[in-house]
Amino acid sequence: MYCIKEVAEKLVWIGSNDRRLNLFENIIPIPEGISYNSYLLLDEKTVLLDTVDRSITDVFMENLQFALGGRGLDYIVVNHMEPDHCATLIEVLERYPQARVVGNVKTFSVISQLYHIDLGERAVIVKEGDSLDTGSHTLRFYMMPMVHWPEVMATYDETAAILFTADAFGCFGTLNGHIFSDEFDFQNVLLERARRYYSNIVGKYGPQVQAALKKLSALPMAMICPLHGPVWRGDLTEILRYYQLWSTYTPEKQGVVIAYASIYGNTENAVNVLAGRLTEQGIREIHMYDVSDTDPSYILSEAFCYGHLVLASSTYNNSVFPKMESLIADMKGHNLQNRTVALLENGTWAPMAGKKMQELLESMKGMRLAAVPFTIRSSLAPEQLADFTKWSDLFAEDVLSSGQ
Ligand code: FEO
Repeated sequence: MYCIKEVAEKLVWIGSNDRRLNLFENIIPIPEGISYNSYLLLDEKTVLLDTVDRSITDVFMENLQFALGGRGLDYIVVNHMEPDHCATLIEVLERYPQARVVGNVKTFSVISQLYHIDLGERAVIVKEGDSLDTGSHTLRFYMMPMVHWPEVMATYDETAAILFTADAFGCFGTLNGHIFSDEFDFQNVLLERARRYYSNIVGKYGPQVQAALKKLSALPMAMICPLHGPVWRGDLTEILRYYQLWSTYTPEKQGVVIAYASIYGNTENAVNVLAGRLTEQGIREIHMYDVSDTDPSYILSEAFCYGHLVLASSTYNNSVFPKMESLIADMKGHNLQNRTVALLENGTWAPMAGKKMQELLESMKGMRLAAVPFTIRSSLAPEQLADFTKWSDLFAEDVLSSGQ
């Protein structure tokens, strides 16, 4: 069966979903699956905008053939050469031998590295600002290096005011019949999906996203067509506003993310006491995660949302608990910055987790310690409660005065 959807006049979505994949990029859990989007412009020339992941090859080939309705394929625009979008490129080229591939110099370099082929005269090499006339539409190309790979570009349909953005503006989660953003609940569904996708896939490249936003956000835009998740249409100011925040590492709102590593529950108990005190001081948004239980991709996404973090860890092998070390490394890897952090360590005979966490944070940009790390020995002692409360209140003050 064919499952294609009209996006706009002469433009159809011919992508599909993967509900079986557990780990996106073999690392990020995607319990809600993922969509791989591909778009077909049926103008005087036919233009395929990106292909799809190998997992949906069969349905994609059927969709493409059906949507073409017996016509040939003239062009394939490759906005991104990561295999979740280009794994089917060679098969499309074999099925449609007259199709030419539109990409930039780096696109063809990756094609050559991945597939060891030279497309010769089938390659149409474009650079910043070049255009392709397809009959009644003009497609213009804008380079977006490192959003998310070096060869990434955006294609702008000047006639329809539609921007094709590769990974940018993507979301985790499948498209279950609906393909437009205004068919979803933005605040309760899409925002979390978009943030977790952004922080984990594009989060590292804030300056490059900023450069792309500066260049593209002034264009008249009726729709944004990413390669994952829904087509953004209607009022685009909200998603553009979030992209502005995320790409400048600016917290969305006031609140605290507490991530803890606890072996026997005593470190967890201390952060429970802390969280209780923070609520008494008037902090509403507190989100707590056991790093041994919650995948770092979720905690990273929360850390992109809120301005204050608490990292609490048991000492382990004379260092920080490995899962906490891994979380901080993940935050650093994704370039998270400009956060205020409180550290809590636990150690029965030689507490070392605080020192190690502090060293790791000092190697990141703009991470500020709210106070000296608090140390507990085995468990929070009754005689420490007054100091702990004072320490908690200092942190609460910092949160409340942060103004987000
Ligand atoms: Fe969806 Fe960077 O690939």
